Amino acid sequence: MFAALTGRIGGLESPMNYPFEKQFLVCVGGRCGNPDRGIERGEFIHAELKGHNKKMGRKPLVRVCTVSCLDLCDHGPNMIVDGVVYSHLTRELAREVYAGIMGDGPPRDDLQLSEDEFRGGGSAAVKK
Ligand code: FES
Repeated sequence: MFAALTGRIGGLESPMNYPFEKQFLVCVGGRCGNPDRGIERGEFIHAELKGHNKKMGRKPLVRVCTVSCLDLCDHGPNMIVDGVVYSHLTRELAREVYAGIMGDGPPRDDLQLSEDEFRGGGSAAVKK
């Protein structure tokens, strides 16, 4: 199976690099996607961003994907971009994060999950 994911460069096997510039990973897990959140839950945030990305003509370069639980449920709905977690999102806030990252608007670093909030949450990744 690994061989199927490799390419041959200069006679050497090398892993394939993912051919997209950016990935927005929107959590649609049980709590980020809780129906109690109505249209501000993960699946609607994903649909909003995916549609917006396509409308902006970036589909060939940017992927908006769903992921299941990120074990950051206390802070959701969550989205990860370049390893950075954005939390407490709505469709509008996720669009603002996208705009800031893609240069269409001001950065929304204020929507990043803080270290203090992360440490106060219930994630198994919290080091005690
Ligand atoms: S359901 Fe989204 S982090 Fe757990």
